[in-house]
Amino acid sequence: MILILGGTSEASALARLLAQRGKPPALLSLAGRTLKPAPQPLPTRIGGFGGATGLADFLKANGISAVVDATHPFAEKISANAALACAETGTPLLVLRRRPWQPQPGDAWTQVEDAAAAALALGKKARRVFLTVGRLELPAFLPYSQHRYLIRTVDPPEVLPPKAKLILDRGPFDEKAETALLLKEKIEVIVTKNSGGDATYAKIAAARALELPVILLRAPDWPSAASVDTAQAALEWVEKVSAGR
Ligand SMILES: NC(=O)c1ccc[n+]([C@@H]2O[C@H](COP(=O)([O-])OP(=O)(O)OC[C@H]3O[C@@H](n4cnc5c(N)ncnc54)[C@H](OP(=O)(O)O)[C@@H]3O)[C@@H](O)[C@H]2O)c1
Repeated sequence: MILILGGTSEASALARLLAQRGKPPALLSLAGRTLKPAPQPLPTRIGGFGGATGLADFLKANGISAVVDATHPFAEKISANAALACAETGTPLLVLRRRPWQPQPGDAWTQVEDAAAAALALGKKARRVFLTVGRLELPAFLPYSQHRYLIRTVDPPEVLPPKAKLILDRGPFDEKAETALLLKEKIEVIVTKNSGGDATYAKIAAARALELPVILLRAPDWPSAASVDTAQAALEWVEKVSAGR
């Protein structure tokens, strides 16, 4: 049985490929953060394992022969736990992860380490900010109430800065609609995560065309494991590992 640690479009794409093949048997794991997760084509379990030790126990108890860590580039803990648990149990591990976006000519990026640094980088002067860092990062912006925030999240946030306008939506987004939104809301600066991939890149392209600055949170370092950046490549790895057993 293959375990896919998911919560991303890459994990869902791999789940679809494995479901189409019908083998090897695989199980998808989600953290349970999203209120209405998209339906998945593979058997799915939801919720944490209880740290690296809990995950190692899960691998042993369920006869997991290989793990694909297809979690989001910013999901640092689960990736570290997967690396530890796989090392402890001798389970082959592959990281399926999109590459971070790279600046293109015309981009005006400020790259920062975390949400607190992004909030500081907005400066003292009041600005109109498009904020798409995920609902759990919003508390870092609460002290900087001089700005007008347009916030887009998948699920409703628990806290919102004053003067914030909320949009609940999930990608993929297209450049034409993103450009129209930035213009309509008179956005002066975008704050987002460098999540990589196509689904949320449109705002970056729109910012370039409109000559808007972007403050980007850098993704954490990758775990040191074999890695690929497409679901197809991950499928090939899974098939190879399964054939060798
Ligand atoms: N961070 C983001 O910006 C972002 C964006 C889009 C999607 N996601 C997805 O949302 C999930 C949570 O993200 P996060 O940043 O909160 O992760 P995180 O900080 O790395 O993980 C926190 C804890 O959540 C549990 N967990 C995370 N992913 C899991 C999975 N796929 N299956 C089972 N348990 C999981 C683990 O709990 P235990 O220690 O109890 O096992 C982990 O220690 C991830 O699966 C990620 O792929 C994250």
